[in-house]
Amino acid sequence: MPEDQEVHRGLEGVIVAETKIGFVDGQNGRLVYRGYDIETLVNNSTYEETSYLLINGNLPDRAKLSGYLAELKTRRKVPGKVLDFIDDYAGTSHPMSDLRSALSVLGSMDKDTVMPNLEKQKSMGIDVIARTPVLVAAIKRKWEGKKIVEPSEDLGFSANFLYMSNGSKPTKEQEKVMDTCLILHADHGSNASTFSSLVTISTLSDIYSAVTSGIATLKGPLHGGANELALETIKKVGSPDNAEKVIGDMLARKEKVMGFGHRVYKVYDPRARILKEFARSITKKSGKDNLFATAEAMEKAMINKVGGKGVFPNVDFYSGMVYESLGFQDNIFTPIFAVSRASGWIARSLEYLADNRLFRPKAKYTGETGPREYIPLDKR
Ligand code: ACO
Repeated sequence: MPEDQEVHRGLEGVIVAETKIGFVDGQNGRLVYRGYDIETLVNNSTYEETSYLLINGNLPDRAKLSGYLAELKTRRKVPGKVLDFIDDYAGTSHPMSDLRSALSVLGSMDKDTVMPNLEKQKSMGIDVIARTPVLVAAIKRKWEGKKIVEPSEDLGFSANFLYMSNGSKPTKEQEKVMDTCLILHADHGSNASTFSSLVTISTLSDIYSAVTSGIATLKGPLHGGANELALETIKKVGSPDNAEKVIGDMLARKEKVMGFGHRVYKVYDPRARILKEFARSITKKSGKDNLFATAEAMEKAMINKVGGKGVFPNVDFYSGMVYESLGFQDNIFTPIFAVSRASGWIARSLEYLADNRLFRPKAKYTGETGPREYIPLDKR
């Protein structure tokens, strides 16, 4: 029977859980992980340390950090069968489909995925954090028709990811840029993919399944897929002189400009502010100043026209050109997001599991109330 209840489309404004992990202050443009402002972490921390913080609640001391770093390094090894799977199946659909399936294959090789206890879930989580970049690098290489590169024992998380992706050791500056991108994307409130992970884990499923759900949800263009489309749009605009007109035309056609707007931030996204400066310097060095100048002109036009509605650049607007400068083709941008967000999905899944409640919302029934007469097939 229809229920006389208000429908919260897209669950907007509905609070579904308590968390101590991260806070998005959409009115003041602040992003906080476990009490630390994102700028503080970008300036002082590393992705590994940030990942530890998200999962465990506090920054590690020296001994705990070196233990975590060692664990992440030893768990980098991905079974050959998973790499064979990538070699056989990746390269035709989309790298996010490849990643979703490859992680699923990895999960199906773990014998402890039936009703794992919290400790086992956490251990699986660290496996996933360590191995997701290995999968993404292998998928990237496959898409480029190149041989998969073995992980390097000597390199940290971000440097190894770049090394396996590009086949050469990154500079210190490239490593820092990659690390910053990973810190910036590691957690972001109850977004669609994180919620998806929580729904999955709330059934007492396993971490591989929760992260696979997150990846599947992140794939869409209204979420993680926007940075690929944002860079495409910037390239189509082509020059700062075209920005005003193209943006005006797009808005007149009621088109969404990718890389702008956010469900929570109604001011400038703090991640975009940080990425913009990296984009400025990295494009200058790679001789792509025009790309940056075009993006900046688009930003100006958008803020003039729709800033009043709370529409500003989001994290996806400048990240594409940063990734491109680091050697990634556009269809790998969202998989990079997944490499980073794995920490957030896992931290929040573990937190939720510790006080689990199965998700089971309702939908308001607006269909026929019946009872309808059943008409046999040959009489319809
Ligand atoms: N381009 C043009 N206009 C926009 C944009 C945009 N990117 N975003 C919002 N607006 C306009 C809307 O048309 C609407 O105008 P109206 O009031 O005249 O109808 C107004 O701003 C409010 O927008 P909503 O759609 O209500 O904003 P909502 O919070 O629902 O949407 C969303 C957020 C889905 C992210 C939207 O801004 C969008 O589609 N952006 C483009 C895709 C994108 O960049 N996604 C990445 C988000 S960040 C992330 O997931 C990592």
